[in-house]
Amino acid sequence: MTDPVKPGAVALITGAASGIGRAAALALASKGMRVALADLPGEKLDSAAKEAGGLKIEVDLSRPGGAAAMRAALLQALGAPALLMNNAASRAGRGFDAAPEEWRAAFEVNFWAVAEACRIFLPDMAEAGGAIVNTGSKQGITNPPGHPIYNAAKAALKSWTEGLEHELRGRPGPRVSAHLLIPGWTTTGDAAHRPGAWLPEQVVDRMLAGLAAGDFYILCPDDETTEEMDRKRILWAAGDVAENRPPLSRWHPDWKERAAASCS
Ligand SMILES: NC(=O)c1ccc[n+]([C@@H]2O[C@H](COP(=O)([O-])OP(=O)(O)OC[C@H]3O[C@@H](n4cnc5c(N)ncnc54)[C@H](O)[C@@H]3O)[C@@H](O)[C@H]2O)c1
Repeated sequence: MTDPVKPGAVALITGAASGIGRAAALALASKGMRVALADLPGEKLDSAAKEAGGLKIEVDLSRPGGAAAMRAALLQALGAPALLMNNAASRAGRGFDAAPEEWRAAFEVNFWAVAEACRIFLPDMAEAGGAIVNTGSKQGITNPPGHPIYNAAKAALKSWTEGLEHELRGRPGPRVSAHLLIPGWTTTGDAAHRPGAWLPEQVVDRMLAGLAAGDFYILCPDDETTEEMDRKRILWAAGDVAENRPPLSRWHPDWKERAAASCS
């Protein structure tokens, strides 16, 4: 396993206009990587690209063909990436009565655009090797109530990225590795920073350490949820199936006290 973070190598980051993606672009640029920042067009993307000194790629990843257009722009300007960070996300379609078009748009960005980007960039990356980081979520693992389409897309992304890594590690030639970045509660977008949350830079530091160590699961705590609490919550969620409990039992009236005691 070689660390893809090297001076002169190319990094493509989606969702780079804001939050974790923006912090990643700045951190990777500061390490001498040639960075490309992909996001929806707008002032945020303009200023992030300027600050990182990187290539700006305006793209709507909810549209079919978005990933292919992004690839064409990258290859023409900088060449194949050593690091592909699929990080853009849509939070559209909250609740079970949201409009199906919103659910589809959320899945397009959070799952399909990522799967498509991996598929089309892999042959480019296979020549020199590199790493793919897909940004997942604890919501795709522990499945809290409130935003089922986001949880479902992130669960799909986890499953798909696990399968991808299994497939890639058996391939001959320069190694391309896959990784699942799992942020905790992180202050991003236009939100004011609140006690308990991590800053995007902390998530990126954890990602860089995880990549250097060759970790597949790059699981981030925050100032409210420790690594030990995460471990217990993940095991509790898996226990719903193994123990034949109701789904989402951590929030079920008959189970939540036992879950709280077990996960604290
Ligand atoms: N912030 C958290 O607490 C948290 C927790 C767990 C996981 N995550 C994940 O971290 C990643 C980064 O999120 P963030 O919190 O930094 O959010 P953010 O809103 O600050 O950044 C997300 C970026 O994705 C871009 N994006 C959305 N739709 C797009 C589209 N159709 N085409 C191109 N770009 C699009 C947005 O414009 C935005 O710049 C996401 O995958 C998110 O699911 C965040």
